[in-house]
Amino acid sequence: MPGKLANFEEKLKNFFTEHMHADEETRYSLEGGGYFDVRDKDDKWLRIWIKEGDIIVLPAGIYHRFTLDAANHVKLMKLFLGEPVWTVHNRPQEDHPVWQEYVKSLTDDNAGGLVGAPWTSPLLANDKKKDWPIQ
Ligand code: LAC
Ligand code: NI
Repeated sequence: MPGKLANFEEKLKNFFTEHMHADEETRYSLEGGGYFDVRDKDDKWLRIWIKEGDIIVLPAGIYHRFTLDAANHVKLMKLFLGEPVWTVHNRPQEDHPVWQEYVKSLTDDNAGGLVGAPWTSPLLANDKKKDWPIQ
């Protein structure tokens, strides 16, 4: 069915286009697996291999993309808290408040993650860097 295939390829292409969401993205693999790539603090791709039975929760605002693994088959369930929101925001979203909040959370005192590390992330534009608290 070419129609179905075209739709599938279009979907894959969209999934593999770097984007973010204004809410957490929670996915559960019912069948098969695939790769979620997320941006690390240096704006480099970090690859996460999701297999059948795995669940992944991506924080609101994180840049990511998805692609299939060699098995070329996946059934991913999307889980929502409250009203389902499917909106995708393709990069660049540096003006989006949710992206800004996400990046800020990496440097906040209580974030746990990167406190104490020198803050050199290229995720932040030079003019914005000055305004963030540096630990
Ligand atoms: C999505 C995943 C695949 O937004 O990133 O549906
Ligand atoms: Ni997504």
